[in-house]
Amino acid sequence: MKAIVCGGYGSPDVFEVQEIPKPTPRDHEVLIKVYATTVTSGDWRARTLNVPRGFGLISRLVFGISRPRQPILGTELSGEIASVGKAVSTFRVGDQVFAYSGVRMGCYVEYKCMPEDGALALKPASLSYDEAAAISFGGTTALTFFRRAKIQNGDKVLINGASGGVGTAAVQLARHFGAEVTGVCSTGNLELVKSIGADEVIDYTKADFTQNGETYDIIVDTVGTAPFSRSRGSLKEEGRLLLVLGTLPDMLQMPWVSMTSSKKVIAGPVSGGAEDLRFLASLAESGQFKPVIDRRYPFERIAEAHRYVDTGRKKGNVVITLEDRHQR
Ligand SMILES: NC(=O)c1ccc[n+]([C@@H]2O[C@H](COP(=O)([O-])OP(=O)(O)OC[C@H]3O[C@@H](n4cnc5c(N)ncnc54)[C@H](OP(=O)(O)O)[C@@H]3O)[C@@H](O)[C@H]2O)c1
Repeated sequence: MKAIVCGGYGSPDVFEVQEIPKPTPRDHEVLIKVYATTVTSGDWRARTLNVPRGFGLISRLVFGISRPRQPILGTELSGEIASVGKAVSTFRVGDQVFAYSGVRMGCYVEYKCMPEDGALALKPASLSYDEAAAISFGGTTALTFFRRAKIQNGDKVLINGASGGVGTAAVQLARHFGAEVTGVCSTGNLELVKSIGADEVIDYTKADFTQNGETYDIIVDTVGTAPFSRSRGSLKEEGRLLLVLGTLPDMLQMPWVSMTSSKKVIAGPVSGGAEDLRFLASLAESGQFKPVIDRRYPFERIAEAHRYVDTGRKKGNVVITLEDRHQR
C-alpha cells in the first residue's frame, strides 16, 4: 500500500510516497481502508518541530531527537472497515468510520489498523467522508478545553483564532453548550465565523478585544496572542482563560494565577477518545456541528497541502482525499 513518509524535520519537501506492507489486524483490531485524512496544525508542528517557547527539548523527546520516530504523520481519518481481527465484536466489515490517532499519528496511509476500543466511531450519515475526517482534531481539542473550563449555559465566551481548525470547532461547540459567542478573526473570515454561529465578531486587524471594555466568562486563545498578561482585564471574576496554544512560561504561571485571583488559566495537551468522537458524531447528526473545509488535496499532493497549512492562514480544515473514496 502507499504511505506518505516524512524523512526528517523540515520543509514539505521531506515527504515521499512509498510502498509499505499493508497491515494485518490483530485479534482486537480493525483494518480501515482510508478515504480521507487531514493536514492539521499538529502535523505542521510534528513536521517542523516548530513548537511553543519552552517545549523544544520535550518535543524532540516525544517526536524523535533528529527525525520523526513515527515517520508517517496524520492524526485523523475517515474510511470503511476492510477487515476485522477474530476477537472484534463492536465493528463489522463495511462499517463507515472515522478515527483519531492523536500524537501516535500514522494516518497518511491507504490502510490503517486501529484497536476496536481506540478513538474510533461510526461516521455520522449526515457528513461526507471528507467532513468526517476533519471532526476529531479541532473537535476533541475544543470539547476537552470546554469541559475543563466547566462551560455553562449563558456563559460569555470569546474565541481568539475563531477561523482555524480548533476555532471553528470551538465556536460551534460553545453555541451547543448555550454560550454567547464572540469570535476574533481577520476581515476576510468575519462572514465565515458568523455563519457557523458566532453572535459577535471582532476583526483583529481593526480592534483589540482587550481594550473594548467587554468581559467574558471564558476566553479561548488558539493563536498565542492572548496570554493572561494581556487577557486578564477581559476576564470576569471567576473567568477562565483556555490556552490552547500556550508557552511553557504561560503554563508555569497557572498555579500562581489561581492562588492570587479568582481567575484561572487552563492549558496543556489534550487527547480525545472514542466517547468524545461519538459525542461529536451525535452533534453532527443533529446538525449542531459540521467541520469547516477550506481546501482538499489528493494524497500524492500532500506536500502542497502542508505548504498551504504552513501559511498559518487556513480556514477550518485541510482535507487529503485518497483515490477510492465515495459518498463525498
Ligand atoms: N493544547 C493542545 O493539545 C492543542 C491541540 C490542538 C491544537 N493546538 C494548538 O492550537 C493552535 C491552533 O490550532 P489550529 O488547528 O486551530 O490552527 P490553524 O487552523 O492553523 O489556525 C489558523 C487560523 O489562525 C488564525 N489567526 C492567525 N493569526 C491570528 C491572530 N493574530 N488573531 C486571530 N486569529 C489568527 C488564522 O485566521 P486569519 O487568517 O483570519 O488570521 C487562521 O484561520 C496551534 O498552535 C496548535 O498547535 C493545541
